[in-house]
Amino acid sequence: MTVDEQVALATALDLARTPGVPPGPNPRVGCVILTPDGGVVGRGWHRGAGTPHAEVAALAEAGELAAGATAVVTLEPCDHQGRTGPCTQALRDAGIARVVYAMTDPSETGGGGAARLARDGVDVVLAEGEEARRARDFLAPWAFAVTHERPYVTVKVAASLDGRVAADDGSSRWITGDESRRDVHALRADVDAVVVGTGTVAIDDPHLTVREVDAGGFQPIPVIVGMRELPESAHLAQEVARGEAMHIRSHDPHEALAQLQARGVRHVLVEGGPTLAAAWLRADVVDRLIWFVAPVILGAGALAMGDLGVRTLTDARRWQVVDVCRRGDDARIMAVPTERDRPKRTDVD
Ligand SMILES: NC(=O)c1ccc[n+]([C@@H]2O[C@H](COP(=O)([O-])OP(=O)(O)OC[C@H]3O[C@@H](n4cnc5c(N)ncnc54)[C@H](OP(=O)(O)O)[C@@H]3O)[C@@H](O)[C@H]2O)c1
Repeated sequence: MTVDEQVALATALDLARTPGVPPGPNPRVGCVILTPDGGVVGRGWHRGAGTPHAEVAALAEAGELAAGATAVVTLEPCDHQGRTGPCTQALRDAGIARVVYAMTDPSETGGGGAARLARDGVDVVLAEGEEARRARDFLAPWAFAVTHERPYVTVKVAASLDGRVAADDGSSRWITGDESRRDVHALRADVDAVVVGTGTVAIDDPHLTVREVDAGGFQPIPVIVGMRELPESAHLAQEVARGEAMHIRSHDPHEALAQLQARGVRHVLVEGGPTLAAAWLRADVVDRLIWFVAPVILGAGALAMGDLGVRTLTDARRWQVVDVCRRGDDARIMAVPTERDRPKRTDVD
């Protein structure tokens, strides 16, 4: 890969992340068209199911300048006739000479595009390096959902140093600081749905909206899981009545995820509380933990996690830390299940 292609891949990833794309089954992809001397003549990103793919959008901007050019794209071009035509065909028709892509498409429908392009004489390269890794990380939840036929699940917890998520009287606003909360809003902007249990609705009356970052008008679907009726005055009860939020009346996390998958949700953020988080952990459907720890000691109040059925240390759930950083005065720990605790499946992290 050339330096120009590395830079173009970073731009393509920025394009893929353009705020405002509605949640849906399709991956968020960006594409840049580069002339042989490194000039950018086309940029595009996918704006959701039924709209042109990133490659097609970038080719439209490039026009005739695409002939002999390189397409740098965050995901392998599709070779599939869906609601829009195959990108492989569009790239060949435009005269693209080289394709650099960051991630192989794992889906049965879209995959195989790189091999098709290579057979047709296009120079095809799977990108390497930091930008490619970032692009793959960004697409990992979508790839997981495609290969496992359920949404990728991130659980977020905001806890005190002594592992509590609420004080003795149930109050939990706010244990963590401004920067952690901004981080949570950025997380919400990157997922399709935010999930809480009925207990959190009853006590906190949350909105679950993206507020503190620019999401281009995008809002994830708020989802409440649990059998009981929501308090009539709760914000989310009104959203459920308007059809803008989902209330899933089930205690089975697999059933909840199946309903979400059917709605086009590919990445969910579970924001608690401890009963729901523990139930989803017990069901082995948690793929990533994002755990904020605030330098606060409460001494009493709800613990971050309900009973997992662990009675002795050898049965403890072990997690592998993949990132630790500071958010203001708080620490943020990101972890994925260790191999031993991982349900049988191929991981995409
Ligand atoms: N700091 C944080 O990160 C954070 C985040 C969220 C909440 N909180 C705090 O947590 C407290 C609320 O805790 P919580 O545990 O009651 O809230 P929760 O986990 O949001 O809700 C619990 C309810 O979820 C339902 N549920 C759904 N699936 C279930 C399953 N598989 N098994 C069992 N129940 C299931 C049950 O309600 P039904 O009876 O309706 O079925 C259960 O009572 C509040 O004080 C809140 O402030 C803190």
